[in-house]
Amino acid sequence: MEKIFRAFDKDRKELIHVLHKIQAKHGYIPADMISQISRYLKISESEIFGVLTFYKAFTLEPRGKHLITICMGTACHVRGAPAILDEFERKLDIKAGETTEDKMFTLETVNCVGACALGPIIIADDEYHGQMKTREVDKVIEKIKKEKKDNPE
Ligand code: FES
Repeated sequence: MEKIFRAFDKDRKELIHVLHKIQAKHGYIPADMISQISRYLKISESEIFGVLTFYKAFTLEPRGKHLITICMGTACHVRGAPAILDEFERKLDIKAGETTEDKMFTLETVNCVGACALGPIIIADDEYHGQMKTREVDKVIEKIKKEKKDNPE
């Protein structure tokens, strides 16, 4: 933590940058770090929690190694996003907002990613898949698993 703090001024304006740094390092914001951030930047813990809940990029829960985001905005919804979500939930055996037991996948929903014409759209890690079909769900999951097998850490 000290090392992360040293990179930033003791200024409340740095909050987002500090949070991004911690999230990049740990994959989430561990709750026990909130009080340390609060003391360092002199911002109340409730204000920090407010920022954390406002920005979807931050999470207080550990996420899986791979993030699959399903757009459930209106345009994607009417084009079949609920069936895509169901299929991911079934294949991964988790619900939206959950992480698989092996910490490999986290499934999330969002309300529009600004690419409505391509709906239904999902984002697997940083890769957008437009006009997604339920039959392609397996392909997306298997591709990620294969990449992991080809590039084990
Ligand atoms: S509703 Fe899905 S991208 Fe806009």
